[in-house]
Amino acid sequence: MITIQDLESLRGEINRLRERGSVAFVPTMGNLHAGHLALVREAKRHAQSVAVSIFVNPMQFGANEDLDKYPRTLEADQNALNAEGADVLFCPRVADIYPKPLAQQTRVEVPAISNLYCGQSRPGHFVGVATVVCKLFNMVQPDVAVFGKKDFQQLLVIRRMVEDLAMPIRIVGVETVREPDGLAMSSRNQYLDESERRVAPMLRRQLLTLADLLRAGQHDTQQLQKQVVEALDAGGFQTDYVQIVDAESLLPMDGSSRKVAVLAAAQLGGARLIDNIEVDLD
Ligand code: PAJ
Repeated sequence: MITIQDLESLRGEINRLRERGSVAFVPTMGNLHAGHLALVREAKRHAQSVAVSIFVNPMQFGANEDLDKYPRTLEADQNALNAEGADVLFCPRVADIYPKPLAQQTRVEVPAISNLYCGQSRPGHFVGVATVVCKLFNMVQPDVAVFGKKDFQQLLVIRRMVEDLAMPIRIVGVETVREPDGLAMSSRNQYLDESERRVAPMLRRQLLTLADLLRAGQHDTQQLQKQVVEALDAGGFQTDYVQIVDAESLLPMDGSSRKVAVLAAAQLGGARLIDNIEVDLD
């Protein structure tokens, strides 16, 4: 695997890979864990070559968020990607992606869903995500791009952007990879201390219980959401939201929803944890 920092070398390498066939792309912010590596493995199934990017994108972090302390572990990441058989690692510097001040950067905004849930708690977050992913797509020009379902709203924002802007890229979603106790793997889990780490899997357990209730025909979503928020808060979380949504529109579930998703975000100590579960009502 070769590691590339500048756009010109990337373009040359991608042209070389294109001669061999299609290219799949996995954008990340690094500090790779088994969840990211599952995306790389899936990417390999869809194309002859796999490109991965590591870029901690300042545009998607709020003023009081963890941009500065976000873990950066390039060498370990390179070794892990090499072992998975990735072909190219693109690690641009901030100035390669944003040569001008951020305020002058053209933005990509996916309306409606960007301001709900995580977008409401993190204003500007999904504009930052859509903008950087759009730029990275233009740089890598992949045939396929792979994203995790752990960031369910992000996956929908990307799908919507690709559809609305007619980008010739197929988006593939991959199931969330979890620790043995059910906690969704995340680079932010390392912000948890020992006792918080023991509490953290409760988020997943609460979502499983809620999914069972939905499948059993309890559809009073306000009441169900409230119960979970109360249980999480009593367990030591500061819950941001628990929302039962239509899995396709991401709007609150209604009578016509057949596939729903329960999205949740909660602060536990120094970590903001998110998780979700999909529920088929048929
Ligand atoms: P990052 O948090 O590094 O995640 C990169 C990709 O890995 C995303 O598609 C995310 O959904 C996926 N992922 C993370 N944890 C996962 C898990 N436990 N199981 C399966 N997939 C998992 O998401 C971002 O970076 C950024 O917003 C990015 C898309 C790179 C834009 O900056």
